[in-house]
Amino acid sequence: DRLARHAGARVRPVGPGRAGAVVGLVDPTGFPVGVVHGADSHPALPEQVALPLNTGTAKRRLNATQRPAREPARVQRLGHVVLETPRFGAALDWYLDTLGMIVSDFLFLPGQRGLGPTMAFLRCDRGAAPADHHTLAMHLGPGSGYVHSAYQVTDLDALAAGGEYLRERGYRRTWGIGRHIQGSQLFDYWRDPDRLMVEHFADGDLFDASVEPGWAPLSASGLAQWGPPVTRDFLGTTPSPARLRELTAALRAEDTELTAARLLALMKAMSS
Ligand SMILES: [Fe+2]
Repeated sequence: DRLARHAGARVRPVGPGRAGAVVGLVDPTGFPVGVVHGADSHPALPEQVALPLNTGTAKRRLNATQRPAREPARVQRLGHVVLETPRFGAALDWYLDTLGMIVSDFLFLPGQRGLGPTMAFLRCDRGAAPADHHTLAMHLGPGSGYVHSAYQVTDLDALAAGGEYLRERGYRRTWGIGRHIQGSQLFDYWRDPDRLMVEHFADGDLFDASVEPGWAPLSASGLAQWGPPVTRDFLGTTPSPARLRELTAALRAEDTELTAARLLALMKAMSS
């Protein structure tokens, strides 16, 4: 009710046969956002068992072998969604103001920190309760839309064995396996049959509301602590007619924040 009043929207039932109420909003990029309260909750599925690891000095597994199953990674939950928008600043303000999200990390174009960030990792403000480093991440770009969504799996072996399973069935890895910097997740990115990007991740950071936002320059090499070099497919820098059309439209649009100068700086950062 408070959100509906704040946004000048209405509270509606979710739909026939389903519990809960929804407030339907549209963010400054034009993405529909439905905020649901009182939805049905379902019992958790059984967890894929995390392996007992022997480290250099802490030995937890004795007289027993390590045989992780070659099986699909079992997804535990949706972790985050990443969006691209030519109206980054307006969209960022909207998510902070309307949903009360808080910033875990900002990325800025090298040498342009004074002009503000061009990427932000947002988490839910749960006060003293820890929340995922990012539930939503957004970056400035010519496109308006989905970049990827990320699904948590139990640990590195589940991630790697799940990747082998996908590879054996002819799916194409976009980027991975590595460990991110912002959020620290172990990551593995894939394309589904519709060419949508999806991520398996494990071991992400959890922050309570006391952690202040970090600031770092945006660069291709700054997206991972370790792992193979980032791919053009992941960065979305593979030239295509659709991408070129997006670019021309974004540069021409009246409400765009993507100037030619920022685009050049962005392309430079993505190749450094
Ligand atoms: Fe991700």
